[in-house]
Amino acid sequence: MTEVADNSAGVRDLGGCPVFHTDYRVERPALETHRLLNADREAARFAWNDSTEEGFWVLNRFDDVREALQRDADFSNDQVSSLHRSPPGILLPENLNQPQHAEMRRILNPFFAPKLVRRIADRAQERAVALVERIAPRKSEDMATGFGMTYPTELFLALLGLPVEDGPTFQPWVEGQFTGFFDKSPQAQQIAAQTRRELDAYFAAAIADRRANPGDPTTDLVTRLVTAEYQGAPIPDEMILTICMTIMAAGLDTTRSALGYTFLHMATHPQDRQRLLDEPELWPNAIEEIIRLYGLIIQDGREAAHDIDFHGLPIRKGDLVWLGLAAANQDPRVFEDPHLFDPDRPNLQQHLGFGAGYHRCLGMHLARAELVVALTEWHERIPHYRIAEGAQLRERGSQLRLQHVPLVWD
Ligand code: HEM
Repeated sequence: MTEVADNSAGVRDLGGCPVFHTDYRVERPALETHRLLNADREAARFAWNDSTEEGFWVLNRFDDVREALQRDADFSNDQVSSLHRSPPGILLPENLNQPQHAEMRRILNPFFAPKLVRRIADRAQERAVALVERIAPRKSEDMATGFGMTYPTELFLALLGLPVEDGPTFQPWVEGQFTGFFDKSPQAQQIAAQTRRELDAYFAAAIADRRANPGDPTTDLVTRLVTAEYQGAPIPDEMILTICMTIMAAGLDTTRSALGYTFLHMATHPQDRQRLLDEPELWPNAIEEIIRLYGLIIQDGREAAHDIDFHGLPIRKGDLVWLGLAAANQDPRVFEDPHLFDPDRPNLQQHLGFGAGYHRCLGMHLARAELVVALTEWHERIPHYRIAEGAQLRERGSQLRLQHVPLVWD
């Protein structure tokens, strides 16, 4: 039996698992994180990771990760990251468990359904074309801080029924919010607190406005939330605010990150790019494959709702559990040649990049539509580009994102 020091009860039974020490919160050279995750997955079916103060169980193989995501009564959403604990209810609907979660998703789902997303797609196309045409003559763009940031922010504002002209005001808030999530230094926390105050004021004004002048609840998310009923009563402003913040946190950084990895891949794999230039109708498949291959949400965290014997793993009530989405998505037991980009893969849709079970990504149809439009319009206008010479590409830890993706073209 393997044991490890436990901050509550002296020693913990690890059920024979090895202990991993890799800290996945730290910044690394681009693509290094996936190499480490793949090695972890092959080293052991289960492990304990002691790189955080509290430590957590590690599940990285596809079948285990999918099973745990679907056993929501055992693996609770009170915590949604194994890398740090957060106050309960800070993310909505993510931190809700059944049946409250299902009720909240019933309110939100229609808004993110494919039908509504088609409406946003027209807006997405108009914004993508305008932005790319402005960028093209410049002959260079940092995808991480330029287009990759501006485009999803404008669409998020359009989705919420807020003015897209607020984009430039909004962008520093998005940065500030993310700094606070991933950097726990006092300086970063101070920026995050200030950002939170400004965002609170912004959304509070939008909520007050929609209460006084409701818009169309089928196309304006804030109106939908102020007119909906949850648990037999109107949704309190505080909760609406948290929902807007969560959607912003969940939707903006992810889309930006996916764009960054897509451009890195296409800039460094000219044959793949040429195929997409020749067959642009392949973009939806290509995006799915990018989300599998460059999994940016490397883990979903869960908290054990009670003691669980998970295939022999002695998980105790309250333990944090890492469900390794990115490692599972490159599990050779499920995906043939998992390290290759193959948009013709027969089980392309099987990946866990958008999660699985009740909490599967609310915005996945929107993300796909936004990405297809952006990549199609970009490649029509700027088909050939490369990474700027001498660029040192690095990725943020915790939730992956390339810090800079400097592209140049002739
Ligand atoms: C490529 C882009 C995206 C990726 C890879 C992604 C991935 C994910 C994943 C893995 C989850 C599951 C989290 C969990 O189980 O704890 C999730 C949940 C969620 N996503 Fe996304 N997402 C993306 C884009 C978006 C967008 C554009 C939005 C909205 C504008 C969005 C909103 C959400 C929300 C609200 C949740 C929580 C759902 C719930 O708990 O019921 N996501 N996403």
